[in-house]
Amino acid sequence: MVPYVNLSAQHAPLKVELLDAVKHILEHGQFVLGTEVDQFENQFAQLCGTRFAVGTNSGTDALILALRALEIGDGHEVVTVPNSFVSTTSCIMLVGARPVFVDVQGDYNMDPAQLERAITSRTRAILLVHMTGRPASMNEIIHVAEQHGVPIIEDCAQAVLAEYDGQRVGGIGTIGCFSLHPLKTLNACGDGGVITTNRERLQERVRLLGNLGLKNRNDCVEWSGNSRLDTLQAAILLVKLRYIEDWTERRRANGAYYQKALRDVAGVQVPEDSPHERAVYHTFVIQADRRNELKDHLELRGIGTAIHYPTPIHLQSVAATLGYHRGSFPVAEQQADQILSLPVYPELTEVELEAVVMGIREFYHA
Ligand SMILES: Cc1ncc(COP(=O)(O)O)c(C=O)c1O
Repeated sequence: MVPYVNLSAQHAPLKVELLDAVKHILEHGQFVLGTEVDQFENQFAQLCGTRFAVGTNSGTDALILALRALEIGDGHEVVTVPNSFVSTTSCIMLVGARPVFVDVQGDYNMDPAQLERAITSRTRAILLVHMTGRPASMNEIIHVAEQHGVPIIEDCAQAVLAEYDGQRVGGIGTIGCFSLHPLKTLNACGDGGVITTNRERLQERVRLLGNLGLKNRNDCVEWSGNSRLDTLQAAILLVKLRYIEDWTERRRANGAYYQKALRDVAGVQVPEDSPHERAVYHTFVIQADRRNELKDHLELRGIGTAIHYPTPIHLQSVAATLGYHRGSFPVAEQQADQILSLPVYPELTEVELEAVVMGIREFYHA
């Protein structure tokens, strides 16, 4: 049996540290903001090499706050990709702006060649995603962004510690948005998120907007909601931050194992890292002929897999009013039919990795 995810395997060795952290909070009773949130924000900023980090209650709220802090709303366009989790686009819709999709390339990331053509006088931001934990083509995208004077929002939900030309994501564009959802590589025991930036003004804006527009306890200067990172989650995340570098190395090693073991299998395409990137493989996504049959075949052998994501956002029923159709983004659509995420979590054993590889090789008679 190789489950697709195994959070118990992550938490078992951490139980004492995690319970100690929770016990400490129960004893001091500061459940909203406070020392643990401050410490988490400081350590996370250091991890990403940014001046600031601001905790949020989810990756989704991180994106909404980033868009709002950049004053993006009615009548504005935001260029983004159609193959992400639906949240990336929901946030654009929720602030009243219009998502303009561009197709992706073989690494599942925004195709810079298409980006240029999607920019109009109404474009107010490029919202790119570092999909699967592989950084987008930042040199080319920054070039276009600078030419048109638009900010870059990095959706780093899948990419903690990923690097492009030695620089960590979240600090390359104007503002970075991370999810700390339980299935992410740095994961809370519940929902969580964080925003990174080097710009003081943006940091102040997202902090204010994420805390009901309160300048202080009694002075509200702007209508806004509550997107604060929970203090219990911050305490849990502080424990996990001690391990994130090691977990990431193990994910990368698991990815390298699959690359080597599956590269020669006809019918399977494995991701190949470019010299620019340090991929962190939040998901290890292969493209497979007869993908659904392969998925069933592995399932029968007790091997869990997943599809991220089977329906591109422009083909979701909710997106019908945006005017896109099947054929609008051929690469994203073709990938949606062939992608399969293999188990890649750090706690996988060599025997389990071997079982996944054997299952795939068997299916293709390789
Ligand atoms: C690329 C991407 N963006 C945004 C999100 C939203 O994050 P959250 O679930 O923490 O709201 C996720 C994951 O859930 C994601 O994978």
